[in-house]
Amino acid sequence: MSILEFVNVDYSYGSVPAVQNLSFMLAEGEVSVLVGPSGCGKSTTLRLVNRLLEPTSGTVYYQGQPLRDFEPEALRRSMGYSIQGVGLFPHWTVAQNVAAVPRLLGWSPKRCSDRTKELLEVVGLDPVSFCSKFPAELSGGEAQRVGIARALAADPPLLLMDEPFGAVDVLQRHKLQQVLLSIQKKVKKTILLITHDLDEAILLADRLLVLRQGRIAQEGPPAELLRSPASDFVREFFGLDRAFKRLIRFHASDFVEPLDEESRLTFDEGASLSSETNLRDALSLMLAQGKETLLVKEGSRILGLIRKSSLEALAAEEPRR
Ligand SMILES: Nc1ncnc2c1ncn2[C@@H]1O[C@H](COP(=O)(O)OP(=O)(O)O)[C@@H](O)[C@H]1O
Ligand SMILES: [Mg+2]
Repeated sequence: MSILEFVNVDYSYGSVPAVQNLSFMLAEGEVSVLVGPSGCGKSTTLRLVNRLLEPTSGTVYYQGQPLRDFEPEALRRSMGYSIQGVGLFPHWTVAQNVAAVPRLLGWSPKRCSDRTKELLEVVGLDPVSFCSKFPAELSGGEAQRVGIARALAADPPLLLMDEPFGAVDVLQRHKLQQVLLSIQKKVKKTILLITHDLDEAILLADRLLVLRQGRIAQEGPPAELLRSPASDFVREFFGLDRAFKRLIRFHASDFVEPLDEESRLTFDEGASLSSETNLRDALSLMLAQGKETLLVKEGSRILGLIRKSSLEALAAEEPRR
């Protein structure tokens, strides 16, 4: 049984078809990312999941049951929901926001407060300093973290994320993506995430669903789609730099090679990067600086080196690791 399955779903706004004969199934414990150009039907698909919209035809199943068998309020409460701009209640503290659904579900105050602290730690916020703050006292990135904590609070079987990092600057966005990846390593949620940002989709997805005009153009693991786009549309959507995009998911620390004493002495200190740098940025740096190798550091400690030739090989073919 899949947590969520679309079977031949159509939805039209009046005479405008937004979703057409859409069928897909979410794999449990995976991040599925719906991606596609503006107007392709991403938001409509999400609204069909939480019953803000009802299919014109076809059926959406949630935990094996048709969605229409669920009472809409109870349904929404049972799904975690994280959206762009967060939508925190402005007059509630961080703690009250995080525990919103657990309180609706009648959890005891002690259980709510324990869960809130646990989740704030998971998203990288110190409970002591954040619990009693109000949303207006948070930075965009902090608010977004609170939003994720709130979405996870009642341990929902499905987490819906609609452009979750759309409202924050690039640096925060990259941090939040890493936060989500590290949370996901621990909690293994079934997540349906929507984004128009292809790099974000490639980084986060276990499975990519590329939408075009309300239909799935191609689905599968990002590396597979990048290697063999099924149509001109998908090829063009990925862009000419799709070999580079394959490198987004890897970090310098994944490909570092040990450094012998001789090369340690001859290396110039300027040519180094942090172990957290993704390999696309690493390759770009090597091309810009005309280097065949770069030192990889963790803080000031040298971990080893990465070679341009290995990154080129990785960009060109399925990684074997
Ligand atoms: N409320 C609406 N009324 C009429 N048409 C809409 C409405 N919302 C979306 N659409 C149309 O439906 C299609 C899909 O929209 P949407 O699901 O919002 O796409 P996306 O989120 O991928 O940008 C588009 O053609 C859009 O113009
Ligand atoms: Mg949208």
